[in-house]
Amino acid sequence: MRRIIKNGTVVTAADTYKADVFIENGVISQIGANLTAPDAEIIDADGCYVFPGGIDPHTHLDMPFGGTTTRDDFETGTIAAAFGGTTTIIDFCLTNKGKTLRSALETWHAKSKNKAVIDYGFHLQIVEANENVLNELPQVIEEEGITSFKVFMAYKNQFQADDETLFRTLIAAKEHGALVMVHAENGDVIDYLVKKALADGNTDPIYHALTRPPEAEGEATGRAITLTDLADSQLYIVHVSCAEAARKIAEARSKGIEIWGETCPQYLVLDQSYLEKPHFEGAKYVWSPPLREKWNQDVLWNALKAGELQTLGSDQCSFDFIGQKELGRDDFSKIPNGGPIIEDRVSILFSEGVKKGRISLNQFVDLTSTRAAKLFGLYPKKGTIAVGADADIVIFNPDTERVLSAETHHMAVDYNPFEGMQITGEPVSVLSRGEFVIREKQFVGKPGSGQYIKRAKYGKSQQAKTIETAAK
Ligand code: URP
Ligand code: ZN
Ligand code: ZN
Repeated sequence: MRRIIKNGTVVTAADTYKADVFIENGVISQIGANLTAPDAEIIDADGCYVFPGGIDPHTHLDMPFGGTTTRDDFETGTIAAAFGGTTTIIDFCLTNKGKTLRSALETWHAKSKNKAVIDYGFHLQIVEANENVLNELPQVIEEEGITSFKVFMAYKNQFQADDETLFRTLIAAKEHGALVMVHAENGDVIDYLVKKALADGNTDPIYHALTRPPEAEGEATGRAITLTDLADSQLYIVHVSCAEAARKIAEARSKGIEIWGETCPQYLVLDQSYLEKPHFEGAKYVWSPPLREKWNQDVLWNALKAGELQTLGSDQCSFDFIGQKELGRDDFSKIPNGGPIIEDRVSILFSEGVKKGRISLNQFVDLTSTRAAKLFGLYPKKGTIAVGADADIVIFNPDTERVLSAETHHMAVDYNPFEGMQITGEPVSVLSRGEFVIREKQFVGKPGSGQYIKRAKYGKSQQAKTIETAAK
């Protein structure tokens, strides 16, 4: 099927211009004025932006966590992602101590195959960098196209790895061409604070935030940066939530250390007071790192604008309020950590960022798509509108006014953390490799049509390693 998107405004991380986009065999074959072909389907994008499909570098679908499993799996999660203008996700594949990395990957392939409606890749968790794991890493990079590894510095007795594992992983990543990612919070200190709070009888959701102070995130961020510098390696810090961490990243980058930072919509528009909602509703906002005092939002927005943070992940990790978040009614530490964000990630950044003048339109595309493509070995196949790129495209109406709500969202969960939020802008149609997944706001995709993407090594995607001066 040949298609031409006409009358839209094409927006990339670098340019904004009026042009038609010609799609053939799933890729963009021409961009220009007045493109025609007798047999091509014409898609009218008048009044709309034509964005490269969003890339969400941080999702947890069908993930066992906190004694339960996330509500959204690879089918519901990727459908919701597509409705929100995301056409590629990179999900976190969990591993088990003593088992091979490949066995973990088989599990994640089984979860996603025949389910995903958009393309996807996997980051791989490293819990213990023993000889077997270190021997397997190069094979996983070369043969499976897994070029990013995740180390948790928190979640003691569950996912947390020690500093030796982080350091060894950084060294191996440098040698073999991968990017290490960290969840940066001091898990040992948090474990102490949680036990103390519970011993003192403090069981409400707000204690989730009070026992995970910003200092614990700042300390772990600084430690991970120092280890990266020592290993002469590269590091991506996920879900940056507070000034303490953002400042450490900016400082390291100004010294030339290769550090990348991601934040998430929830930290840009929600704050710690949500955890104090009555009737246990605060549990809906329990994730890690926790929501912070409101003033941190300005710090994060400024860091995005200045290029000190480079990507926006959703950290999608959804649990129902009823039956799942409720597991922690009498003990905040038993509330499963995570929230449903995958669907609203792109639209919130557009509405709160571009429409409110906090970031430019081109920065928006960079943050939601291009930069993740470059860092995670997907560029230029994905992450831009260019001849030869996959036709992963979002036709976006920048003027629609709407209200976010669980009643209208497509995630499988029973609540939306942004309930009632008024936003401007909406994805109208979404194409994955040239095929409609969302057409005029209706789902027309097919579970199983999403393909697993083997990713290029770190630094091989064009410009991935450019640490540019602040984009003001
Ligand atoms: O609370 C969160 N963020 N849940 C997902 C796991 C993680 O830490 O990213
Ligand atoms: Zn995390
Ligand atoms: Zn996460």
